[in-house]
Amino acid sequence: MSLEQEFLFLIPSTMANNLNLFLCFLLFVCFFTLCLSPGGLAWALISKPKNQPIIPGPSGTPFLGQVSTFTNSLTHRLLANLAHTLKAKSLMSFSIGFTRFVISSNPITAKELLNSSAFADRPIKESAYELLFHRAMGFAPYGEYWRNLRRISSTFLFSPKRICGFGVLRERIGVKMMKEIEGLMVKNGKVEVRKLLHFGSLSNVMESVFGKSVEFGDWEIEELVSEGYDLLGSFNWSDHFPVLGWLDLQGVRKRCRVLVGKVNVFVGKIIEEHRMKRRVIVGDEENNNNNNNPNDNEDGDFVDVLLDLEKENKLTDSDMIAVLWEMIFRGTDTVAILLEWILARMVLHPDIQAKLRSEIDQVVMKTGRNISNLDLPNLPYLHAVVKETLRMHPPGPLLSWARLAIHDTHVAGHFVPAGTTAMVNMWAITHDDQIWPDPTIYNPNRFIKDDVAIMGSDLRLAPFGSGRRVCPGKAMGLATVELWLAQLVHKFEWVQASSSKNKVNLSECLKLSLEMKHPLICRAIPRNDVGFESHP
Ligand code: HEM
Repeated sequence: MSLEQEFLFLIPSTMANNLNLFLCFLLFVCFFTLCLSPGGLAWALISKPKNQPIIPGPSGTPFLGQVSTFTNSLTHRLLANLAHTLKAKSLMSFSIGFTRFVISSNPITAKELLNSSAFADRPIKESAYELLFHRAMGFAPYGEYWRNLRRISSTFLFSPKRICGFGVLRERIGVKMMKEIEGLMVKNGKVEVRKLLHFGSLSNVMESVFGKSVEFGDWEIEELVSEGYDLLGSFNWSDHFPVLGWLDLQGVRKRCRVLVGKVNVFVGKIIEEHRMKRRVIVGDEENNNNNNNPNDNEDGDFVDVLLDLEKENKLTDSDMIAVLWEMIFRGTDTVAILLEWILARMVLHPDIQAKLRSEIDQVVMKTGRNISNLDLPNLPYLHAVVKETLRMHPPGPLLSWARLAIHDTHVAGHFVPAGTTAMVNMWAITHDDQIWPDPTIYNPNRFIKDDVAIMGSDLRLAPFGSGRRVCPGKAMGLATVELWLAQLVHKFEWVQASSSKNKVNLSECLKLSLEMKHPLICRAIPRNDVGFESHP
């Protein structure tokens, strides 16, 4: 080939290469520009109606968005800082991969969001789906099935009568925990309370839901529960990058399937035991010619209630397992974690602890017996201590599980498309100095002066959420925490451990709930004039 011919041949290929390079560059610039738009990539990909104000928000790392915020153990604090810096407390947008988020750190917008019917659904993570939680109340899509579960549980598990009826059980478990604590103090001269509180809380849920008691040290159930917490609480890449889904790089799906198998056996056995017990009762009553329905038994637990459901309300066994299993999850962790924070605060603030004890002592003096469930309404300072701890250390700083927009909607004047995940940063609200004077100071007295409602009507402090999907177990959870706190502070004086390496450390770690990063280790000094039992 002559030189000229070669030259002629080369021009088109060089041009084509350059064109390719140019196109790649153009694509890269477009992608980068998309990623850098407010709220990041997932927000840039939506088409929104014209003339809508843009929701402020960080663009985050290209493509990844705010992944690093969510793989951090202080996500609530990082999001609060971002909202403050970007002046986006009312509503902030951000992306994680292809998932679109809005988050509110303002009580007015938070109320609008949580109480809107548009946000009555929850986004379902892969782990929750694999663990069959989409058939349980907390993750079930908004609709007839979910409504039915809420109705059944509010009538048969969370009604004031039922909660009061379980008071004796809570007292008994409280006494058991105190005996364990006393034993540990004799043995070690210090106690690590987390495990004990967790077992107490687990026993409480197991007995009120399953009618089955758990002994301290029952590792089978404990292992199932903690594996579930770990799976639900950890960040799963394939929730936000669908292409990674089939690879299961973190092994989440595999672990979920193993766990589901074990849970099916464990809970399935309990359901079968209930069925057998009922057959025996029916048999006995037929022999005695007694026509009473065994299902009218007022003492039945929640498993009995589910077994009694009629026709269209009847649940399949696997639905029942999901519903029952979820109760353990929701009810155990939150109560134990909140109590650990309160006890840590009692150790750090001996003056507040003394004031609380004196309130309890006065009630005990009046009644002539140890503290019981019935005394709780007469302990205003105790309520204030619990509220102040919920304000400073909300177990669900981001309200644990988010909401999902069912259809296009508007929040605080901003367009939010269907499929957006919505969250409330309750921690940011309860630490906002424009809402709470001296928010970093632990001061229960603020609730004596101003009796803020915490059950979801006032979003300045709504640790149980608000609206249609507000926590149904809130009254039961509070009654448990309050009674055990009263028992523990009445029986023991809580002080720092002697060794400096065990000094109370309030560092946080956000997993499924907001835990103390360093478990509380302290001394519980028994008050010798105080016995254990409530009813002598
Ligand atoms: C201190 C104790 C507790 C705290 C702080 C707490 C907090 C929460 C929060 C923040 C939510 C989400 C609410 C929302 O989206 O607006 C929730 C939902 C839920 N909680 Fe609790 N909770 C506690 C105790 C309990 C207990 C004892 C149970 C049951 C035994 C329970 C069962 C549930 C269930 C089933 C849901 C899902 C409701 C639904 O989506 O319809 N919780 N909880």
